[in-house]
Amino acid sequence: MRMIVAGNWKMNKDRDEATALIAALKELTLPQGVEVIVAPAFPFLAIAVDQLAGSSILVAAQDCHEKSHGAYTGAVSVPMLRSIGVKACIVGHSERRQYFGETDKVVGLKIGALLEHGLIPIYCCGESQEERVSGKHFEVVTNQVKVALGALSSEQLSRVVIAYEPVWAIGTGLTATSAQAQEMHAHIRGLLSAHGADLASRVPILYGGSCKPDNAAELFANRDVNGGLIGGASLDAAQFGELIRLAGRA
Ligand code: PGA
Repeated sequence: MRMIVAGNWKMNKDRDEATALIAALKELTLPQGVEVIVAPAFPFLAIAVDQLAGSSILVAAQDCHEKSHGAYTGAVSVPMLRSIGVKACIVGHSERRQYFGETDKVVGLKIGALLEHGLIPIYCCGESQEERVSGKHFEVVTNQVKVALGALSSEQLSRVVIAYEPVWAIGTGLTATSAQAQEMHAHIRGLLSAHGADLASRVPILYGGSCKPDNAAELFANRDVNGGLIGGASLDAAQFGELIRLAGRA
């Protein structure tokens, strides 16, 4: 199984900073079997694609609209992203759910639009702290996955990347233990096995939530952890480079 290290820059980096970070990432030697993705903010996607021409690093958006065009002020469609060479898109991030009211139903439509136009959806799911403490985490993630991915055909599912991001671990410095991550990743893979064990084993499931160079080796060593969706540590080339190196050794 390939490993994926994806950097979610969120609402960080202006043009000069984004350009400098990409220039530094371009210098990295990428280990065999590791796919690297960066997700800058919308204004810098085209710049990132141009700057990364000739590199195997892919550029992702952090969100998209489910419709392909129309009167949706402020929105960006999948065909627009595709037209500038964006290859993937994060959807369902907990910050989109929390601050922008995104639901799994809408996320499911976005995933459909991405697949229709040949982009890779990076679908984020994960429970809140309250849900974890009350022991509902498996139920919550099961529902998220069923609503957002339940209607996909096996062929469509084979083009999806899933990121398990426990909300209580995002940007908090708290990380799921290696065992907690493995347990939930195995659970998610179990849900996918309705499409057959072989397909389920091929869908990458990334861990996200305060994944840093000092905890990544342990997380990445798990059988069902196929890399990371990295926020804070993706803003620094040295840290992100180290995460890529660790993924190559997992
Ligand atoms: P973090 O963010 O690494 O800063 O916790 C992860 C994410 O939100 O994707």
